[in-house]
Amino acid sequence: MSLSHNAFWVAALALLLSNFVLLFQRSSSPPLLYQTLEVPPTASATEIEAAYFRLHHALWISEKEGPAYNTIEKLIDVQHAYDTLSDKRRRRNYDTFLLDELEAAVQRAKKENAGVSVDELEFPLWHVEPVKELGESATVSLTSHNFNKIVLESDDVWVIQLYSEMSIDSQELLDSWDSVAMDMAGVAQVGRVEIGQIPLLILLAEKTLYTKQPRFGSGLPEIVVFTSKCRRFDCLIRYRGLKTKDALIDWVATSVLKLPRILYYSFKTLMKDVIQGAGTHKVKVLLFSGNGERAAPYLRQAAKKYWEYAVFAKILFQEQNATFWESRVGVKSAPALVFVKDPGLKPVVFHGVLNSSYFETLIEEHKAFVLPQLRRISAEALGCDARRKSVAGNSTTWYCVIVAGRTGPSLSQVRGVMREVLQNLTDTEVVLGSGVPGHVLAAEALKSQRLSLSWLDGDKQRDFCYVYLHSPTMFEACGPRRNGEVDDVPKIFLVRYQRKLLTIKEQERIEKNKALRANNPWISLLEDNDSVASQLVSKYEGSATVADIVQWVSQMVYEGDNNDLPSFSGKMPELLPEESLPFWAQSQEVVADGQAKVVHFIQRFMQTLSPYTSNMSLVPVVVFLAIFLSLHFFLHLNKFPQLVGHDPSAG
Ligand SMILES: *[C@@H]1O[C@H](CO)[C@@H](O)[C@H](O)[C@H]1NC(C)=O
Ligand SMILES: *[C@@H]1O[C@H](CO)[C@@H](O)[C@H](O)[C@H]1NC(C)=O
Ligand SMILES: *[C@@H]1O[C@H](CO)[C@@H](O)[C@H](O)[C@H]1NC(C)=O
Ligand SMILES: *[C@@H]1O[C@H](CO)[C@@H](O)[C@H](O)[C@H]1NC(C)=O
Ligand SMILES: *[C@@H]1O[C@H](CO)[C@@H](O)[C@H](O)[C@H]1NC(C)=O
Repeated sequence: MSLSHNAFWVAALALLLSNFVLLFQRSSSPPLLYQTLEVPPTASATEIEAAYFRLHHALWISEKEGPAYNTIEKLIDVQHAYDTLSDKRRRRNYDTFLLDELEAAVQRAKKENAGVSVDELEFPLWHVEPVKELGESATVSLTSHNFNKIVLESDDVWVIQLYSEMSIDSQELLDSWDSVAMDMAGVAQVGRVEIGQIPLLILLAEKTLYTKQPRFGSGLPEIVVFTSKCRRFDCLIRYRGLKTKDALIDWVATSVLKLPRILYYSFKTLMKDVIQGAGTHKVKVLLFSGNGERAAPYLRQAAKKYWEYAVFAKILFQEQNATFWESRVGVKSAPALVFVKDPGLKPVVFHGVLNSSYFETLIEEHKAFVLPQLRRISAEALGCDARRKSVAGNSTTWYCVIVAGRTGPSLSQVRGVMREVLQNLTDTEVVLGSGVPGHVLAAEALKSQRLSLSWLDGDKQRDFCYVYLHSPTMFEACGPRRNGEVDDVPKIFLVRYQRKLLTIKEQERIEKNKALRANNPWISLLEDNDSVASQLVSKYEGSATVADIVQWVSQMVYEGDNNDLPSFSGKMPELLPEESLPFWAQSQEVVADGQAKVVHFIQRFMQTLSPYTSNMSLVPVVVFLAIFLSLHFFLHLNKFPQLVGHDPSAG
């Protein structure tokens, strides 16, 4: 027992020692390409050339004298080492970052030439053209000189490609870099650094754990991200995925920026989950795509920013369904953008390729219904909040015309009528201050923002609805639908808000009271009716025709402006949010501090598993793991005999 224990420790020690020997060897031996040419890393260009011709000749001769083992491979290796070390820039990249820019070409050449004889070997073995110069570009070229100023002193998220003009692998991603920048517009800044910016690249590169050698784990191009909270080199995030535009963009949007995904829907799921399922309080934004690509980050950012207003969906537009989509929503071709707004209203369609700034203007214009909905987030802009001011600024009397009802066909119909009323009032010519009665008065109030028209979800906002429509018939418009009991009858009403203009002294007193209340729990219970506008409600009883409603609104505005009518001031029920905050609406971009740093450390540690010279560096880790595991194993074994020893049946 104790013998096996000792043996174990001896073995462990031996393994650990061999480990260190390996490590020492690795860090002190010259890099592989120098080994191949049998020259020291300090060799001059002439020495390298001489070594190359000597080795090349020797291999050639040995092959002529009799086929030797692996000569072709060795010839290719020598050529590889020579082509890398004889080119100034390649050698610099190899010396600094151990970056082998010919590796892919070499592997290809080895495969193609497997089994051929020396005579059949065709030189040059590879054509590696330098990356094409990037001409006019939307992405920022970063250098050691401008990096601090442009990146570290900005507040933006930066996605930066590190590339080499000598590496053909860089070409593809570099070619799509401008379109990456387009998709990231308004979400992240996109930059690029050529490997020639050595001091900067050393800061951006990873360092191996033991030797602190700067390197690029999976070669170039490499993509690093500085989140808006990361302004140092030790908190940048490194992209480890597939080096394609689509995969990269998805990673940045999902993993770093935590933006919601925009999913694809078929017609059936679209109707069920988006048009009906997403709620009546939202405008629907449909993105038709011809190729099924994922949504650009700026769209996903918009989906997050406008989540209370709009729900986003992607749809694959196929030619065979073209007539179907044209008849349903008016989409003739992809890409197209559709806003589905008020029920019964034709969707608003835009054909053609989108960009971030254009989309921003469109969604700002179309995020709300034509007849706006009175909701928590719109009450202030509509002027329908007694606690707030009139939208017109310092006016003392203003009006809200509201249609309340449960969502459904009857409400949709009245909303349609109210849209026409809105249109009529908007189109009516007014000469401000003319004081002419009739419908011009309402139009004038609308123009000066003392009047707004909106609709209210009587079910979701039932308390609010009950207060304003207080009467035996209010259940026709407010509260949940009770099957068969009452019909849906939407109600139109007008609220007049009135507030006296305060003198400076009164305003000061209110501020003082506010401060007092904030500090004193007893006083805070008292109603503060200075800051609440007094209200007066008038219910509309006429027919639901445009002419009658216009007439009534004008009459109400006239009376409200000119008569001293009684009104009430008191606490009103709050408008409730229609839905709770989705998890992604509150999520923030990843911060590479604390937790993320640990993840980073593990990533870095794992990267030392992928060796750059040979598989040797794997050995220490495997050995370490073996010791670790066997230690656990032994400790468990050691416990077992004791347990058994106490068992009478074992004795
Ligand atoms: C579109 O076309 C495909 C293939 O023909 C079909 O399976 C699908 O149901 C169509 N979708 C619609 C909405 O017509
Ligand atoms: C965005 O799209 C609009 C409309 O297609 C176009 O006028 C504008 O020039 C585009 N902007 C950019 C930066 O491409
Ligand atoms: C608001 O008050 C300012 C001065 O305090 C005045 O110039 C302006 O005309 C007022 N506006 C309205 C709509 O009453
Ligand atoms: C608050 O409103 C009530 C009833 O409307 C009124 O009696 C009271 O005087 C008001 N208080 C203040 C401080 O204005
Ligand atoms: C608005 O409605 C009134 C009353 O029906 C009508 O007289 C007027 O012509 C309408 N104005 C517009 C611009 O449609």
